[in-house]
Amino acid sequence: MRIGLISDLHVDINEAFPILELTAETAGMQSVDALVIAGDISETQDQTIKAVERLQSLCPFPVYYVPGNHDMWNKNCPERRTEEIDRIYREDPHCLSGRHIILEKDGRKLALIGDLGWYDYTMASPEYTEEQLDAMTMDGRTWQDKLFNQWTTDNRSQTKRCLRQLEEQLEACGDLPILAVTHMLPVEDFCVPETPGGLKWGFFNAFLGSTAIEALYKKYPVRYAVCGHVHYRSHVQRDGITHICPCLGYHTEWPLYQLGDNSAAVHIKDALYILETE
Ligand SMILES: [Fe+2]
Repeated sequence: MRIGLISDLHVDINEAFPILELTAETAGMQSVDALVIAGDISETQDQTIKAVERLQSLCPFPVYYVPGNHDMWNKNCPERRTEEIDRIYREDPHCLSGRHIILEKDGRKLALIGDLGWYDYTMASPEYTEEQLDAMTMDGRTWQDKLFNQWTTDNRSQTKRCLRQLEEQLEACGDLPILAVTHMLPVEDFCVPETPGGLKWGFFNAFLGSTAIEALYKKYPVRYAVCGHVHYRSHVQRDGITHICPCLGYHTEWPLYQLGDNSAAVHIKDALYILETE
């Protein structure tokens, strides 16, 4: 089975480019059996849901996604609580939150589950206090979720809630091999190294994911794990799980990949990871 994996399309920030059309075309040329997006499609719920519907209309294979922290923002609809936004996505049949999908080809099955995931500061450097981390501000820079994600619980409680939801989905897959999708990182391998004079990533890595997600995956037959959020294009093998981070990212970041061609088509082709399952 061939699954196309991509994340962080940011169709609003990248609105000058035909992101959806090029993603459908690139995945189609790779003859994928399904396409999975690991979050950050836009910063408005209606736009994210419409973008996925548009993508599905362009693709002969099923399209699934999990929301990212940007999809969860209430920046453009301040009256919405984050729990309400979460419910909106759960009702969308393309959204993996709360579901398990069984993909099948040539008699082989693969279970697909997913959730936004969240962060519990397990990826932060140990020198920061709980109070500092809860403030989500360092050197005058505030992590934007502090402004636009209004969970009624704190970050640690929210992570626990996501873990419980993921575990319910994992339980439902039985012995099948599993492809698990979160927007947040399950492994520290994709954390950002701190460089002198740069952003204090030892602090801001706190808001990238949770090592508890990886610990949970290890209890189940998770073979592949996809995440986004950090705008890397990378993959790593750890303890029998292939972790993939296939981010398109903002067009302003594309020159950093040094591909020599900053067209959307080239960057979508570079970001799209084709997973060939056994
Ligand atoms: Fe993103």
